[in-house]
Amino acid sequence: MSNLVIAIDGPAGAGKSTVAKRVARELGLSFLDTGAMYRALALKAVRAGFQPNDGELIGKMGESTDIRFGTGDPQPVYLDGEDVTSLIRTPEIGEMASAISAHTPVRRVLATRQQHIVAGGNVTLEGRDTTTVIAPNAQVKVFLTASLEERTRRRYEELKAKGENVDFAQLKEMIAERDHRDSTRIDSPLRVADDATRIETDDLSVDEVVAQIKALAAQSATI
Ligand code: DC
Repeated sequence: MSNLVIAIDGPAGAGKSTVAKRVARELGLSFLDTGAMYRALALKAVRAGFQPNDGELIGKMGESTDIRFGTGDPQPVYLDGEDVTSLIRTPEIGEMASAISAHTPVRRVLATRQQHIVAGGNVTLEGRDTTTVIAPNAQVKVFLTASLEERTRRRYEELKAKGENVDFAQLKEMIAERDHRDSTRIDSPLRVADDATRIETDDLSVDEVVAQIKALAAQSATI
């Protein structure tokens, strides 16, 4: 399966990262977490004192920002050489990432880099626009989703395990708002690509979802 590209799209908390990482590992592909790039740039923007709607300035800053990935689990993320792996995983940075990702100058600078990585092939990538904009020609395109309740529950467990004090109802509201923002932005909104396979994960284990995607990859290799 040379040059295989698997794109996994979907809303917050659908399990994209967990599933994409597993698929990448089991198929020997590299893994591209596109959201981590938005998060890293969001962190830099917060530190620089920018507001969520400073799209033009943040996009400009993005042009001279170095964002790299290491190997490991969690996958290390380097912002201008600094290890920001855990710093970018807070709800606050998630909010800022969602807000800045609505701006075309920000999307343009990160999308160009992501498309460049995808052009190299042999990659599993995940994020909201990966099946529609970043890798529309991927052999396997999946839209992973789950109910708001289930996605909130997963995020809640994840944050609690990291020792963060979160309120379930508040988290649910934040995720609903994020869904709304990501789906209604003008530039590259979250949507199901016509030819993507939709997988509802409420009642599926990670193993089952991974198996379904691997089956789709095997199928694509025989077409
Ligand atoms: O997947 P995540 O939670 O790490 O992403 C954080 C934010 O980044 C998300 O709310 C929207 C934005 N994002 C995006 O617009 N496009 C992507 N391909 C990935 C993330």
